[in-house]
Amino acid sequence: MMYMSSVQLMLMGARLVLYDGSPFTPDPKNFIRLVGEQKITHLGISPRYMQTLQMNGINPKDVTDLSHLKIVTSTGMVLSDALFEWFYDFGFAPSTQLCNISGGTDIASAFGTANPILPVYVGGCQCISLGMAAEVFDSTIEGGQGVKGVPVEGGVPGELVCTKAFPTMPVKLWGANSAERCWTHGDFIMIHPQTRQVIFLGRADGVLNPSGVRFGSADIYSVVDANFSDIIADSICVGQRRPQDNDESVMLFLLMKPGKAFTPDLVRRVRAAIRKEHSPRHVPKYVVYI
Ligand SMILES: *[C@@H]1O[C@H](CO)[C@@H](O)[C@H](O)[C@H]1NC(C)=O
Ligand SMILES: *[C@@H]1O[C@H](CO)[C@@H](O)[C@H](O)[C@H]1NC(C)=O
Repeated sequence: MMYMSSVQLMLMGARLVLYDGSPFTPDPKNFIRLVGEQKITHLGISPRYMQTLQMNGINPKDVTDLSHLKIVTSTGMVLSDALFEWFYDFGFAPSTQLCNISGGTDIASAFGTANPILPVYVGGCQCISLGMAAEVFDSTIEGGQGVKGVPVEGGVPGELVCTKAFPTMPVKLWGANSAERCWTHGDFIMIHPQTRQVIFLGRADGVLNPSGVRFGSADIYSVVDANFSDIIADSICVGQRRPQDNDESVMLFLLMKPGKAFTPDLVRRVRAAIRKEHSPRHVPKYVVYI
């Protein structure tokens, strides 16, 4: 998708600057200085890069002259609410628009995108892309042969689908039933009832459903990333329901940073943070380390 979008930008006469390698060598401010020197107008970075800047106390707008910078695009993984706040409170000038976009290589495009004429709210993507008949369907479509999906209202989580063909849609998927008329993207999302922003909650096949409370693994990752990134390197959150179980159990696996210990106290703090940021029903039953 990024390749396609780069080629398309050149068709419009843009000058592309591609950077390969670590943005933190020879020093952590190196890449940001390049953005200033090259008078970059549209910058594509990852949430991980912003998080590293934040953790190192580097505010790009204080490093170099970024007055040419109009848009910063972020994609590829969850951009935590804390990083949205950091972006405008510390990282960049208010005149720079933060665009969180979500798409896929398979569709050479994005379903969730940014827009210069709508306000930017913390979290999610600003809107659905033009020309995409994207909707949120009830998860009853999951695995159902010939089951008709039901659109849900704003504020209700469900699966991201596209109900009409779009210009970059693959002509055919090998082996798939060509009678299928609805693109299911595999994302578990919600449209905000007021702002209409697109909130990504996780993968559709990763939806957690303990005691009938449906939420996405991203809810858990956002807490781990925002509150424990100094101790925890990575995490995986999954649901388990074996044939003999009456209910689903949520399990959170933690990968510690080198030299950091997994302790009962840490488990208590992680649980407490999830309870505080979400609800008691979101708290994983098991927290273990890998
Ligand atoms: C931003 O876009 C990414 C996909 O690029 C998506 O995973 C994420 O959930 C979106 N929203 C937030 C708040 O991160
Ligand atoms: C987690 O981090 C966020 C952002 O820094 C903060 O607002 C929140 O209070 C923290 N929550 C807990 C439980 O520490």
